[in-house]
Amino acid sequence: MPAERARVPDDAAVVIRGLNKTYASGFRALHAVDLDIRRGEIFALLGPNGAGKTTLISIVCGIVHPTAGEVRVNGWDIRRDWRRTRALIGLVPQELTSDAFETVWNTVSFSRGLFGKAPDPAHIERVLRDLTLWDKRDSQMKALSGGMKRRVLIAKALAHEPEVLFLDEPTAGVDVELRREMWALVHALRHQGVTVILTTHYIEEAEEMADRVAVINNGEIVVVDDKRALMEQLGRKQLTLHLQTPLAHIPEALSRHELALDDDGHTLVYTFATRDERTGVTTLLHDLAAADIHFRDLDTRQSTLEDIFVDLVRDAR
Ligand SMILES: Nc1ncnc2c1ncn2[C@@H]1O[C@H](COP(=O)(O)OP(=O)(O)OP(=O)(O)O)[C@@H](O)[C@H]1O
Ligand SMILES: [Mg+2]
Repeated sequence: MPAERARVPDDAAVVIRGLNKTYASGFRALHAVDLDIRRGEIFALLGPNGAGKTTLISIVCGIVHPTAGEVRVNGWDIRRDWRRTRALIGLVPQELTSDAFETVWNTVSFSRGLFGKAPDPAHIERVLRDLTLWDKRDSQMKALSGGMKRRVLIAKALAHEPEVLFLDEPTAGVDVELRREMWALVHALRHQGVTVILTTHYIEEAEEMADRVAVINNGEIVVVDDKRALMEQLGRKQLTLHLQTPLAHIPEALSRHELALDDDGHTLVYTFATRDERTGVTTLLHDLAAADIHFRDLDTRQSTLEDIFVDLVRDAR
């Protein structure tokens, strides 16, 4: 079939239908995944370790074969039109891999050539400058720090001017400065019309960057929503009160608060939404004093994504 006829017209950057992946070990990493990623959006894929994020990205990028299902990128089928589709995609992998003895300039330039693009030193220079790698262009990869290597991975992914960019944990283990730079870069790319899909464990990263968010757990998409809607759900905080005297149950006088008793009655956990203008902490403390309940210590904790996934999965059952 001629390539042109294989093209399916649609406005989505990535269309995923009925995707399943069972590894040779028999482990089912993805189950019935359907996802549409819009052109020009920044899409965050969130999920705990082992949820299937890298597997999903690897399939879309044509690195891992799905057991069933189909994937189209800007209308092209990744399996039928591999080369063409792959050339549209930039991938910043989760794992650091590099040719230790190659220079930064060669590593990045070579990447462009892999996708059949004519050399364009001006573009490579722009990418290296954007990533503050210009001064390191003649350095060997092995002489770079971890953060710089990560920058090179990003430069490699941008070398062939992809239309869809995948960033798998782009800021895991990088310093605050690079994280901020990354965010600025992603915004700039989106401005140029690039669709960006990223995975992250940091809520604030999804919050800063994403237009939409999907949560994946145990290989299944649990939720897909606009960031704002989801973050209101995600932004929860816990106040833990370590009591002086253990409680057998939560007294009636405190029933209007969202409380849980933990640690054999030694701790009282109050959960509240950080988005709410009134957290309810003041009234809670007031009610505790009135009920003659005293605590020796307290701490607060922002709920982690992991907690939220657990909640989402439990709710989905
Ligand atoms: N080649 C493989 N063979 C067998 N099982 C695999 C293989 N690759 C991944 N898995 C399993 O599939 C599941 C999903 O892995 P994946 O790397 O996609 O998770 P992830 O969401 O990216 O996790 P993380 O947040 O830790 O990066 C895990 O249980 C993993 O052990
Ligand atoms: Mg991963």
